[in-house]
Amino acid sequence: MPGFELFGDAERKEVNDVLENGVLMRYGFDGMRNGHWKARQLEQELENKLQVKHTQLVSSGTAAVSIALASAGIGAGDEVIMPVFTFVASFEAIMMLGAIPVLVDIDDTLTLDPKAVKDAITKKTKAIMPVHMCGSMANLDALQAICNEHHLILVEDSSQATGATYKGKPLGSIGDLGCLSLDYVKIITCGEGGAVLTNNETFDTHADHFSDHGHDHTSTALNASIGHDRGAETHPFLGYNFRISELNAAVGLAQLRRLDEFVAIQKKHYNILREALSTIPEIVFRTVPDGGEESYSFLSFFLPDLEVARKATTALKEAGVDGCFHYYDNNWHYIRKWDHLKELKTLYPLSAEIKEGLQYLKTKTFVQSDHYIGRNISCLIKLSWTEDEVVSRAKKMVETISNCLIN
Ligand SMILES: Cc1ncc(COP(=O)(O)O)c(C=O)c1O
Repeated sequence: MPGFELFGDAERKEVNDVLENGVLMRYGFDGMRNGHWKARQLEQELENKLQVKHTQLVSSGTAAVSIALASAGIGAGDEVIMPVFTFVASFEAIMMLGAIPVLVDIDDTLTLDPKAVKDAITKKTKAIMPVHMCGSMANLDALQAICNEHHLILVEDSSQATGATYKGKPLGSIGDLGCLSLDYVKIITCGEGGAVLTNNETFDTHADHFSDHGHDHTSTALNASIGHDRGAETHPFLGYNFRISELNAAVGLAQLRRLDEFVAIQKKHYNILREALSTIPEIVFRTVPDGGEESYSFLSFFLPDLEVARKATTALKEAGVDGCFHYYDNNWHYIRKWDHLKELKTLYPLSAEIKEGLQYLKTKTFVQSDHYIGRNISCLIKLSWTEDEVVSRAKKMVETISNCLIN
């Protein structure tokens, strides 16, 4: 999956442009830049590629989620529904605003189960946040219908599925807001970075200002001869610093232009592996919602039970097949191991609202999600494999998993 596997001259050229004029900050210094505005350019190219009206680049995917929610006015005491299978960033970003993450079950798509979402709605619910895990997507039509019925904001986290589409539309462009991570291990990378996507002009203005101390970059501070005068910019509301640097944006610019190439390589590798694994009758592949086209960054499938999945994960590792994740036992991606969240271990006192709002995690069980994640293995698809390597990997996987099913 990670774009860093194929770094080359294009990335170097974009970074050198920045180093040669020395302006590493995305705002201001107009006269020194020789016309290089890497962050601004990457925002425009993301808008074209992902078919969305507005993009705000920021420092990370985690920041993107906080900024997206803040832009829609979500904060203290509001509830945001999110899946139990995701990355820890999801609840971190919600809690940073004083809002309450409401964790609910996933289904065989490995993303939010619309029925579980419906059951979790209360008077405090403000947003539903599907996380498009491992290159595929949630049932966005079903989630959008729930949002429409209950007047909720739909925030897509498509950090792990950049390049995937649903009913012809790029993920991240469908909800009220979309979030991308562009960190080092994503399909396209800035090194570190993230993006907020939206078709809503107000949310875009909020995201722009909030990610730079509340600065109004559009105000009268624009001076034709010196460009933006940051000291003269007003602050319509409070913000923080989640800016991306020009160096990071430069890397992302070169990577974005290769997104189609990366997805095509992944698809080729994915298809070889999937065809081979399809010969094992006990394997069931993850469900992709109707109209969905994956980014092919992972191949995810279910084995008959937890014991076989554990055995197969160990056996694959021993056979030298790397990058096959059994998230049931993983500390980062599944609720089972998030003791620090369940026990509310923080460096600073949490608000009474959050403490009260997260009490449910002490007792709630997620039997349906255990059923799917316990049996699931998700295999990373790499860009740098040769075709021979993929074919030999497929053979090894079939042999190894078949053995685990017999013994
Ligand atoms: C689904 C998801 N959301 C958000 C993030 C956070 O991104 P970042 O590392 O850029 O903060 C990640 C990172 O792995 C992720 O997988």
